[in-house]
Amino acid sequence: MSKILIIGSINQDIVANVSEIPKTGETVIAGKSQMFFGGKGANQAIACSKLGGDCAFIGKVGKDKFGDNSLENLSSNGISIAGISQTESQLTGMAFITVENSGNNSIVVMGNSNMDITFEDILENECMINECDYILMQLEIPYEIVKKVVLLAHEKGKKVILNPAPSRKIDDDILSKLYCITPNEYEVYGILGNSGKNGGDKTLLEAGKKLLEKGIQNIIITMGDKGILHISNELIKQHEAFKVCPVDTTGAGDTFNGALLYFLSEGYSFHQAILNSQGAAALSILKLGAQTSMPDKAELDEFLIKNGHGENINKL
Ligand code: RIB
Repeated sequence: MSKILIIGSINQDIVANVSEIPKTGETVIAGKSQMFFGGKGANQAIACSKLGGDCAFIGKVGKDKFGDNSLENLSSNGISIAGISQTESQLTGMAFITVENSGNNSIVVMGNSNMDITFEDILENECMINECDYILMQLEIPYEIVKKVVLLAHEKGKKVILNPAPSRKIDDDILSKLYCITPNEYEVYGILGNSGKNGGDKTLLEAGKKLLEKGIQNIIITMGDKGILHISNELIKQHEAFKVCPVDTTGAGDTFNGALLYFLSEGYSFHQAILNSQGAAALSILKLGAQTSMPDKAELDEFLIKNGHGENINKL
């Protein structure tokens, strides 16, 4: 089994259920509120580990109850937490999430301890980079750290996957060193420095091809219920989404990323890894909370069989 390293954010999510996400200047009363474990890094690590991935994590939490609980949560989900430190100078990262009846959400992240990660923290755990085969990162920790890790990991011959969320422009010399990038349909424009869909690239395919020209080996654009667009030097392929009724889409992208990492690290083809990860993401939106309904391998296999993809549960 390949070794996997996730470097990223750990948050405490505070989720409010509302009939509609409030508009600017509007105050609404939530139907109910709940706390969940979250953070894109932690969510992706849990998604990967639940399927059977051998995951280690580098990150930072506060020396507070949320930090203690998050460490316990990651560890009890089988993730090595030796690379996660606790700081007294910042609170653990937090996210305020509103989920409306349609299942759609809006999220405000307070990076807190996640933004205190330094390159020294990374170098203290350099052995984890040396030992792993795949590294997965997101953009909820300082961009300067992400850049340095990409350069270091590339030098060491590691396969780096970047989930560029939240969206921002990414330097060309970093893009050229990525094995895979997984933007959603909005982030794909942000990476290229365009503010929105009309920022210069007319279609997702054109934007994806631009990223390919920059040297990224695999561009996987997630498009929610419209499926996935995979672009590489060998192919351009659209994968249809599974049809489910969403309760909460928070963490669907994280589930997809964690699952993708798991299946690629197990030697599945991109085609199979994408399809299986779409299945995992579909299951993850059936309950409230990012991590609560991420499937284990048996649950995912059952779902794939039910949906006519039984041939996909084992590597071809
Ligand atoms: O992708 C969902 C995650 O984004 C939430 O868990 C929240 O913590 C934010 O990081």
